[in-house]
Amino acid sequence: MKDLIFIIFLTLLTIFLLGFAHPVTESSSLGDPELGQEIYDSNGCGACHRINGLGGTIGPDLTEVWKKGDEYIRESIFEPRKVVVKGYKPVMPSFKKVLTESDVDNIIAYLKSLKKKGKK
Ligand code: HEC
Repeated sequence: MKDLIFIIFLTLLTIFLLGFAHPVTESSSLGDPELGQEIYDSNGCGACHRINGLGGTIGPDLTEVWKKGDEYIRESIFEPRKVVVKGYKPVMPSFKKVLTESDVDNIIAYLKSLKKKGKK
């Protein structure tokens, strides 16, 4: 009887652990949203851009910029003159010499994480 309870316990434990391990592997995307937020803050993006109502108004609000896609965001950071958002002046500096590809991956992950928070 004791053995049976132990086996049931082990089975439940395995199901429990598998259930929790799964989302972790699934959510691993290219960048790290927390690092991205640090890079966003330390590079002064918020001086010109707003996220959820916080920040400057020289540039567009970035709360929903994830809708425009990863590649668009990457291009906006490395080559801001390529597409200039209507109604805004082309004053954003290029971050090509400042940020690495993986820095930008992290920023993209951060901007995409706003989507999940907003939808909840
Ligand atoms: C000096 C002010 C300034 C700073 C600093 C700045 N930006 Fe911008 N940004 C702008 C302006 C103005 C625009 C709109 C004109 C354009 O498209 O170039 C813009 C456009 C963008 C866009 C496209 C927005 C859209 O709706 O299509 C993204 C994404 C972006 N910036 C990200 C960033 C990130 C990330 C940083 C920090 C690494 C940053 N910006 C720093 C001024 C700035």
